[in-house]
Amino acid sequence: MCSNRPCNSGMAGELQLLFSKKEIAGQVAKLARQISVDYAGKKLVVVGVLKGAFVFLADLVRQLTIPAAIEFVRIASYGAKKESSGEIIVTKDVEIPVAGKDVLIVEDIVDTGLSLKFLVEHLQTHKPASLKICALVDKKARRKVEIDVDYLGFAMADGFIVGYGIDFNEQYRALPEIFVVD
Ligand code: IMP
Ligand code: MG
Repeated sequence: MCSNRPCNSGMAGELQLLFSKKEIAGQVAKLARQISVDYAGKKLVVVGVLKGAFVFLADLVRQLTIPAAIEFVRIASYGAKKESSGEIIVTKDVEIPVAGKDVLIVEDIVDTGLSLKFLVEHLQTHKPASLKICALVDKKARRKVEIDVDYLGFAMADGFIVGYGIDFNEQYRALPEIFVVD
């Protein structure tokens, strides 16, 4: 039985450990410290991008030392499974008003940048006072559109990852560490 550990269910190849629990916790703590300093006295709204960012967001916000409202958005893209296409829609928008607030998007991975470019443009229509990006993993070499990550956990080259909220065909989200799928 696979339970919560890596296994091969025929859905993906071998899993190789990329970022350990300790490395992730260290980066999350660092990001939370920096965000707590930068957003002190501001009206912070953390907007998690479902579903991939749910674990990262949960760990991050629990280490903030400043007040923060929590929101979620969900976007869907059409096209090849492992890569987003240009066609993206909002399937769940923010529900609390973010006009005049300091919005920090929390995303799992920035790959081509198409999803975040779309989301940034969408959230700008809600007229936030400021809008920045916090991402756990950046695959900068794969970028197709310009997106700058303001708060970054890890940079990586090419490769497909799972775990810590990140899935492959809805599998592996509950793994506590991040693995590369061969
Ligand atoms: P982008 O629009 O190409 O930047 O795609 C970003 C989204 O694609 C992420 O939020 C993930 O949902 C998904 N994605 C990109 N790379 C990976 C990966 O290595 N594993 C799992 N999902 C990924
Ligand atoms: Mg995603």
